Amino acid sequence: MSLFITFEGPDGSGKTTQARRLVEYFQSRGLPVLHTREPGGTAIGEQIRNVILSTHNLSIRHETEALLFSAARAQIVAELIRPALAAGKIVVCDRYADSTMAYQGYGLGLDLDALCAITRFATGGLTPDLTFYVDVPAEIGLARRHRGETNRLDQKNVAYHARVREGFLKMARAEPQRWVVIDGTRSVDEVQQDIRARLEQRLEGRV
Ligand code: TYD
Repeated sequence: MSLFITFEGPDGSGKTTQARRLVEYFQSRGLPVLHTREPGGTAIGEQIRNVILSTHNLSIRHETEALLFSAARAQIVAELIRPALAAGKIVVCDRYADSTMAYQGYGLGLDLDALCAITRFATGGLTPDLTFYVDVPAEIGLARRHRGETNRLDQKNVAYHARVREGFLKMARAEPQRWVVIDGTRSVDEVQQDIRARLEQRLEGRV
């Protein structure tokens, strides 16, 4: 049974750890699973990711940024995600097109309809079956994040990250059958338990 699951969340939400733990859970049950991340995940995608995140590229245009994320996505969809789904695997992807809507759309103010069109072009219309949105307030996410190293995208301010979060929450409200909102302020174990419980609820024993 193929299943396309994405994880979304503001910076520092802990979604990467949660995605990894869920992948380990599927593996422990002997289920075939592909774990990948945006904007990397392929050789070409990793190179695009380096251009996007480099602190040397401070003059990058918002439009350029949106197109680069979408370009990496086109590659990952064609090279990894579609073949894995066709082979009946569960795909767990750390960030997907909703990140472009939240960051470049709601965060940077690019036109949402234009971003939708670019996303459709890049993905051929491939939409996740289920999206876990790990929610944390911008201040908490940024405080967690700044314990580690920083990249160009980390240099944006709290107001920007608050807009990104609001964007995610708005999309989740608009499409509740796809999105599952998870409170990411709790411990790693509590959040993971919640994710598994909500997954089972949604799939009603399909995995
Ligand atoms: P990354 O180091 O992978 O952070 P995280 O662990 O939070 O995912 O960097 C990804 C950054 O890129 C993150 O700040 C979100 C941003 N991003 C966009 O702005 N647009 C996008 O379409 C995607 C996929 C990511």
